[in-house]
Amino acid sequence: MEKIKDSELILNPDGSVYHLNLKPENIANDIIFVGDQDRVEAITKYFDSAEFSTQKREFKTQTGTYKGKRLTVISTGIGPDNIDIVLNELDALVNIDFATKTVKPNLTNLNIVRVGTSGSLQENIPVDSLLMSAFAIGTDNMLRSYSLQDVTNQAIEKAFVNHTNWDLSKGLPYVVAADNNLLNKFKSDTVFEGITVTAGGFYGAQGRILRLQLNDEFLNDKIDSFEFEGIKATNLEMETAAIFGLSKLLGHKALSLNAIVANRKNGTFSTNPYATIDKLIQFTLNKIIG
Ligand code: URA
Repeated sequence: MEKIKDSELILNPDGSVYHLNLKPENIANDIIFVGDQDRVEAITKYFDSAEFSTQKREFKTQTGTYKGKRLTVISTGIGPDNIDIVLNELDALVNIDFATKTVKPNLTNLNIVRVGTSGSLQENIPVDSLLMSAFAIGTDNMLRSYSLQDVTNQAIEKAFVNHTNWDLSKGLPYVVAADNNLLNKFKSDTVFEGITVTAGGFYGAQGRILRLQLNDEFLNDKIDSFEFEGIKATNLEMETAAIFGLSKLLGHKALSLNAIVANRKNGTFSTNPYATIDKLIQFTLNKIIG
């Protein structure tokens, strides 16, 4: 087995992985991702017990049990670039032997559920509702660094590029599905389902104009009228496609749940986003133990 060079898999002096500050024994197989480091405790306050807590930069991790199930909650910070760090380092924690820096012969699959916030593109998906991503379209390019063709849905990719008349100087969007078992496990009449568009930024990349002109000012209108086999493009956020793509490439299972805090169609923002996020947290914890 080939040894991974020290420059490629960087460990801290205490043996923990470089950015996340974690050792293999610190994480559970079931992991909840949040963006905001302050949201980690908004979840773990519901735990029966806590066993571990650490933070480096925006990456805060807590592990404990909820109704007897061992869970890890980790904050990823914002955006696909951070997801690249978090998913590669979590995978290294379970699938690379840190003593020999070689890939383990038997690989571990993690279950990853993102609990995030998002902006709806549809009038009928109001602020304070919950939404589960069946597919994600990545417009951010991070995942294009990897060899992708085995995990992407090229039919949706092509339809999206045609429908939006996508400017290919921005890179080719990629489409990845949620894990089907997790999608079925979390299905609920109280949660919308749709195609999530992951952007590489919050303002221009999501069509927000403050002072700068956009590459395509009609892009959001074209996205919100996109549908594939009856599933509509429903929401914009900044992590899901990267989580789906890297999870599929590495053999992990991923789902993305969104608290809708903004409605881009009617220009509204939630007056109490924390309550909506708490509703999503309680929904997630109940489903995760099911
Ligand atoms: N997060 C985003 O990335 N966009 C929104 O509109 C709301 C939350």
